Order: sequence, then C-alpha cells, then structure tokens
Amino acid sequence: MDPANKAHRLAILLSGRGSNFLAIANSIREGRLPSAEIAVVISNVADAGGLQAAADLGLPHQLIVSKGRPRADHDAEVITCLQSHRVGLVCLAGYMRLLSPEFIAAFPNKIINIHPSLLPAFPGLEAQRQAFDYGVKVAGCTVHFVDEHLDHGPIILQRAIPVLESDDAHSLSQRILVEEHQAYTEAIARIVSGDYEIRGRRFVPCTKL
Ligand code: GRF
Repeated sequence: MDPANKAHRLAILLSGRGSNFLAIANSIREGRLPSAEIAVVISNVADAGGLQAAADLGLPHQLIVSKGRPRADHDAEVITCLQSHRVGLVCLAGYMRLLSPEFIAAFPNKIINIHPSLLPAFPGLEAQRQAFDYGVKVAGCTVHFVDEHLDHGPIILQRAIPVLESDDAHSLSQRILVEEHQAYTEAIARIVSGDYEIRGRRFVPCTKL
C-alpha cells in the first residue's frame, strides 16, 4: 500500500465487544481490504472486549476514558491520537458516543458508522429490538457517514434480511450481525477505492464499467 495515502490508514473506535472491529481485522488479514491497515484502535471504555482483542492482535490501541469528562476535552484527545497515527478514515464500531462538531470537522466525510437497522428507521439504542417490537418484516443494517446527528449522515450501503416467523429479538440481532460484518468491509472497500461522490445525502459510486 502507498504509505502516503492517509485514506487507507483506519482507526477503529469502539466501546464494547468489538465483533465488527474483528471482522474488519479479519478482512484485512485475509486480503479482502488489500489497501487498508488498522492504524489504531481506540476505546472510551476500559473493559471493552474490543480493546483487549486489539492488544491480543498486537495492534496499536489506546484507552481514552470519556466518563466524567467534558465532551470537548475527550474528543480533543481522541483527535490528537488520530492525527498522531496519521489516520485517514475513522470507523465507529459500537462506539457509544455522539461526536462533537469539532471532531466531525477534523475529519470531513472521513468518519463512518455501522448501525443495526435500515435507517432512517430505528436510530438509537437497541435498534434490532425496536424493529422486532414494531413488527417489521424486513430488517438489516446501514453503514453511513457520521454527522452531528444520531445515526444520520449519508448512507454508503445497506443490507436487508427478512424477519422470520421463528425470530425473537435476539436471533434477529444475531442474523443482522452477520450482515454487519460483511457490510462494514464492503463499505470500507468502497471508501478506500476513492471511487465515489457524495451528492447531498446521496453516496454515488463512480466506477465506470
Ligand atoms: C453493532 O450492532 C453495531 O451495529 C452497533 O453496535 C454494535 C456493536 O457490536 N453500532 P460489536 O461491538 O461490533 O460486536
């Protein structure tokens, strides 16, 4: 990979178990994201499983605790960490925080998130349960750019699955998670390719066939 191309240096920000992080790490290891590397994994939660997993994989990782601190102070430290690792694309993967305007301005159109619903339906917490309780027949996940609003920026891609008669909220979440792991890699590949435009809210791939 070209070390001058910062867009290929990924940061993963997480707060929990980190299965999406591990799916991305696997994709890189197995050659599905040939021009990307994980520059740093950052957690705002000390006992996040994903942080330990990053350590186990020998990846650069950093705990930047958010609890009890003003958002601006915390985000400023995260931005400094990202810049020091020359990060070009910030991937939120179960990162349980809204980003400050300063954070978003520091990485314009270079912060993406995965959400376990077909946005704009069911933003926020426990999206899979929200969808199941609502009685939807089709559920799924969304990878999108991050703006200052919750689960809101332009959509990069979505994957949909049917809700089965046999499903409960847990089984539906598990099946959505399988889709998430594939969707995140696919979305990163699209971003890393650079072959796209953002027109308003619309993510438009530019590849000429
Ligand atoms: C995923 O469902 C993701 O869509 C949501 O938070 C969850 C994180 O799971 N934003 P994991 O930590 O990646 O396993």
